[in-house]
Amino acid sequence: MINKKEKIYIGKAKGPINIALIKYWGKADEELITPLNNSISLTLDTNTFYTETKVTIQSIGENKDKIKENNISLKINGNPSKITKRIKNIFQKFLSLDYPICKELSSFLLDIKIESINTFPIASGCASSASSMAALVLAITSALKLDNILSKTELTKIARLGSGSACRSIFGGICEWITGTGDNSLAVQLYEKNYWDIGVKLIIVNQKEKDISSSEGMKITKETSELFKYRIEHIVNKHLENLKESLKEKNFNSFSEIIIKDSNNFHACCRDSYPSINYLNEESDYIMKCVFCLNKLYGQNICAYTFDAGSNAFLIYENKNKKIIDNFFKYIFVFDDINIDDLIKLMEIKNIENNKNEINKLKMSKPPKEKIMNQIDFNLGDGAKILYD
Ligand code: PMV
Repeated sequence: MINKKEKIYIGKAKGPINIALIKYWGKADEELITPLNNSISLTLDTNTFYTETKVTIQSIGENKDKIKENNISLKINGNPSKITKRIKNIFQKFLSLDYPICKELSSFLLDIKIESINTFPIASGCASSASSMAALVLAITSALKLDNILSKTELTKIARLGSGSACRSIFGGICEWITGTGDNSLAVQLYEKNYWDIGVKLIIVNQKEKDISSSEGMKITKETSELFKYRIEHIVNKHLENLKESLKEKNFNSFSEIIIKDSNNFHACCRDSYPSINYLNEESDYIMKCVFCLNKLYGQNICAYTFDAGSNAFLIYENKNKKIIDNFFKYIFVFDDINIDDLIKLMEIKNIENNKNEINKLKMSKPPKEKIMNQIDFNLGDGAKILYD
C-alpha cells in the first residue's frame, strides 16, 4: 500500500551509441568529468545497438537527517550495482536543480530502481556506457516531467557525470563535446543526421570485457605518457580544426585521413603509457591494413577506420560507396561468394592483374574466420529519446 507520502515517478528512454572521430582521452577534472580536449563523434542509429532504461523513483518518507548524499537507495535491475557512484551523481544533480519537483524530492528518502537492457557487448569499446547513461538521463527527465523544461544542452551536462562520452549521445547526427570551464562542459550538435550520408560498419573481433576501463586507462596515460602531452599541446586541436573544415566541405578524402590519424595517435598514447596499454589486437591491425589497401587501390580515401578503447573496428564511409566497402570486406573476410572480377569491376580498378594479386595477398594473410565475429551496419541516428508507452 502506498500512503500519501509515498509517490512513484516512472520514466523510460532509449539511448544510442556514438563513435568518436576525434577522441576524448584524459580528464581535466576527475570529479566533474571534464575533458582535456574537445571531441567530435557520430551518433549511430538504434536499429541494432541501443540501451533501453526504465527508472522508477519512489519517495518513501522524509529524509529527516537531510543528509542529501544518503537519501538515495539504488537498485539496478533488481541488484545493488558496483557503479553506483556515478549514477548517484546523476540523481543528485537532478535533485539539486531549482525546480519544485527536484526540491520536493530532495527532502525525501528515495528508493530508485533502474531496469535496463543493452543490446551489445559491454565494455568492449562499443560505447555501452555512453548509450546507457544517455538513456538514464532521459528516463529521469521523463519520470520527473522535466522534458519540456530542461534543454538538451542542459542534459548533456548531466549525462557527462555518468560517462564523459555520454554527453555526445544526447544529440543525434554529428556532435562536439566542448571542454568548457568547471561544470560548464557540454555537448553541441554540429550537424543533424541528414547533413552528410555517412555509414558506419562495426566489425566485431572481440566481445570480451576490456582489461583496463577507459577511466583507468586515461588516468594512466595522462600521468605517464610524454606523447600524450604532445597530443594535447600540439596534435588534437589541429585534428579538431581540420576535421571541422573537412566536414564543412564534405571532403571525405581529408575527413577520413584525420579520423585515421586521430585513432592512431590515441592508441599510440595508450601504448606509450607506463604500464603500457593496448586495446588493439592482431585482428584490429589486419583491418587497418585492409583499409589502407582499399584506399590505395581506389586511388583516394573512401574508407576510414577508428577504434575506441577496444579492438573492434568502426569503418566510416560515404553510403554511395557502401557497396564497394561491403563487397571488399565480404571477399576478404567472410565468404567466398564474391567474385574477385566483380569486385574489381565494381571498384573500377585499373591495372587489374597487379591489383588482383594485392587483394589476394591480403586475403591470404587474414586471421582465422572465427575471430571476425560479426559485422553491423549503421547510419547516423537521433539522440537519446524518451519512450512514451
Ligand atoms: O566516456 P568514457 O569514459 O567511456 O570514455 C570514452 C573514451 C573513448 O571511447 C576511447 C573515446 C571517446 O571520445 O568516446
